[in-house]
Amino acid sequence: MASIPPPRILTRRRLLVHGTAVGAGLAFVPSAWGRLITQDATVGPGFFADGVASGEPAANAVTFWSRLTTERAVSGARLVVATDEGLTNTVATTVVPTRRAIDGSLKARVGGLKPDTLYYYAWQSSDGVSPIGRTKTAKPADSAAGLRMAFSSCQDFPVGFFNGHTEAATLGPLDLYLLLGDYQYEYENTETRSDAFPTVDLKSFRDRHKIYRADKALRELHRVQPVVHIWDDHEVEDNYTENNPRPSDLQRAAGYRVSFEWMPRMQFPREQFRIYNRWQHGRMADVIMLDQRQYRTGDLDGQPRQLVGRAQLDFLKARLKASPSTWKLVANQVMIAPLLVGVGGVGQEVNQDQWDGYDSERNELLDFIAAEQISNVVFLTGDIHTYMSNEVPQRPGAAGTYKSVATEYIGGSITSSGLPLPAESVNAANPWIKTFNGADHGYAQIDLSAAEAVVTYRVSDIQQEAAPSRTLSRWRQPVNTNTPVLDAGTRAFRSGPESPADSASESAPNAALRRRRRRWERFARRDVERREREGAAPRRRRRGKGGR
Ligand SMILES: [Fe+2]
Repeated sequence: MASIPPPRILTRRRLLVHGTAVGAGLAFVPSAWGRLITQDATVGPGFFADGVASGEPAANAVTFWSRLTTERAVSGARLVVATDEGLTNTVATTVVPTRRAIDGSLKARVGGLKPDTLYYYAWQSSDGVSPIGRTKTAKPADSAAGLRMAFSSCQDFPVGFFNGHTEAATLGPLDLYLLLGDYQYEYENTETRSDAFPTVDLKSFRDRHKIYRADKALRELHRVQPVVHIWDDHEVEDNYTENNPRPSDLQRAAGYRVSFEWMPRMQFPREQFRIYNRWQHGRMADVIMLDQRQYRTGDLDGQPRQLVGRAQLDFLKARLKASPSTWKLVANQVMIAPLLVGVGGVGQEVNQDQWDGYDSERNELLDFIAAEQISNVVFLTGDIHTYMSNEVPQRPGAAGTYKSVATEYIGGSITSSGLPLPAESVNAANPWIKTFNGADHGYAQIDLSAAEAVVTYRVSDIQQEAAPSRTLSRWRQPVNTNTPVLDAGTRAFRSGPESPADSASESAPNAALRRRRRRWERFARRDVERREREGAAPRRRRRGKGGR
């Protein structure tokens, strides 16, 4: 598909003419967000140094975002939405208020739009205009048309270049781009590119987001594709929970608040930081977004207790059961298929930070999917920096027997370092894991039709800016099956000198990541030694995934 030309700056006069062509009234400031800002907005001076973004596409509405850089404590900017790149066929204009309390961020939910339609938009101050963005509304509720989406996670800025975003921005208009967590990393790291400070409070989180959004690839992705975002741990702090381990209240509130400031995302009226939600894309797909950090709890020893919580689990089950769509996509932070490490065909769960640590919730969910015979449930997962295509087994038996009740696709990471485990041994201990690659980086594309879901993993050299992407592997899942099938002509595993264990260790870009890798390698080695000493009785490890 064709890409659109680079952004063109309109003159202020031209935008003013267009801005007055249609009255405001089709847009509103997202609920609750409005409490932070005045509603008596006027357009003030300033510029749009952080680009533009859109998200949460519905069949008739989109959330628009930008940020006004201004000296004024209270100000506003005009949003113009049109059906053409020149912004001549204007369909909505509105003046959106902002103020210092929300760091100049601008958000508006514009309704009254046509389904499955491309829109172009720009923001205007009294002396500047933003780049022109592009977005797309969702297909109408009764549409049986196919969908193209893409997803990624874990963009550690100092580690490498966001080449996956560079390509995803050129794919042509996607129906949706899903950002599955670790949009930013909270620790300081200055090796390849610089994050020279930790994020602990409002100022540092805001400064970090400015650095990330100055990245050309991420900025372009936001400019041309509508997104939804779920946060994982690093939007606040590594491996945190609601209670134990618990970050400082200041750090947590700042992380959530700044994430809302920088994302094209509405707020729920009475749940200020709720992000779990669902978006319908015709009869083809329901996108159910989860939050596996905010409601997560541990016991007094820091052992896992609750991952999503009662209210969210009930929401998820209700949406899965009521969904009118063929494909039920669950946008999910952490891996739901078990990940066992071991020898002799007997494995041990190694990462209690993912669903493996929360058996009672996982069993309840997967038992429900099986009992209700809900078909085509597909988990799209971030967190683990590894490409995987998985069956999701319901209570797998000790002898390796299992029934798959869903599938899971994990699209590697944009840059963050993956797991140094050999693919073949992972597959031996986890027959439901059909591919495993922790060495490469990029994103995934998913094409949905009435007949099948097709997932394509794309990778590139992240040490080279704007390096081209290539296909790592492609997976086809026929409708009403719960098994990813490798597409002819692509490979499930890379092996030999290119194996993840070898190349990941060699390419570890900085000391902190090398340390984390060594921790995993030590654990895997000790595990093998212990098994040889004691036999294969499973024993659980304390929480922790090594700080990714
Ligand atoms: Fe991550």
